[in-house]
Amino acid sequence: MSSHTDNVLGIDIGGSGIKGAPVDVVTGKLASERVRIPTPKKATPKNCAAVVAELVEHFAEEIGDNPVGVAIPGPVVHNVVKYMANLDSSWVGINADDLFTKKLGRKVELVNDADAAGLAEVRWGAAKGVPGLVVVTPLGTGIGSALLWNGELIPNTELGHIEIDGADAELKASSGAKSREKLSFKRWARRLTRYYQEIEKLLRPDLIVIGGGVSKEHQNFIPLIEVETPITVAKLFNRAGIIGSAANAMDAAAERA
Ligand code: BGC
Repeated sequence: MSSHTDNVLGIDIGGSGIKGAPVDVVTGKLASERVRIPTPKKATPKNCAAVVAELVEHFAEEIGDNPVGVAIPGPVVHNVVKYMANLDSSWVGINADDLFTKKLGRKVELVNDADAAGLAEVRWGAAKGVPGLVVVTPLGTGIGSALLWNGELIPNTELGHIEIDGADAELKASSGAKSREKLSFKRWARRLTRYYQEIEKLLRPDLIVIGGGVSKEHQNFIPLIEVETPITVAKLFNRAGIIGSAANAMDAAAERA
């Protein structure tokens, strides 16, 4: 039985929207309806932190003093952001945990958005109980990747940026590219086939999980992707970033205790 003290606010900062909801970290379910605020045009850490502060205030009563989890679209290595393709470049090199913790006056735990999705899918979703190597790939403005080896996350892989036919993969095969170039599902699936063939060649995974907002329309494109590796749709769709960032914040708090 969970109580409000199990509710941890998970926030997913994306290229177009910042989404947050309290998550029951015992069941992995959203405890309230999620709220979405457009990403500031100049998506600096400071401007994004102001939106995160708004979300914290909105859900304050539900989340007690618990830490807050924030997923961002870039690798976070020992709390430092190493690379940023789809938000302002001033994220690179900063200790974002410290910046957000100071700004919010409470502990904030940052994590890569795809890793957050991987954590959520392995605990409550499509990767749960799958032995061997699972690659979770949320498709959105970019392509994220999370590697799970026997259920254990290998963090900060950046497989959306492998080069395919001379181009950065996410520029050609993300769902952002699909919208930008107004690709039909059929044409997009051809690009996804190239992408996942390369992933297959490099990693030989046991399972590929496709997530992100577009995964709701999985029937339109997953059956068209031609690879040998089994591919399945994420179970938590685009909620995985929120759920995984909350779970990660709670795990980190437990480790500190
Ligand atoms: C970033 C990754 C991120 C992915 C999905 C890529 O551009 O480099 O860190 O996980 O987008 O947002």
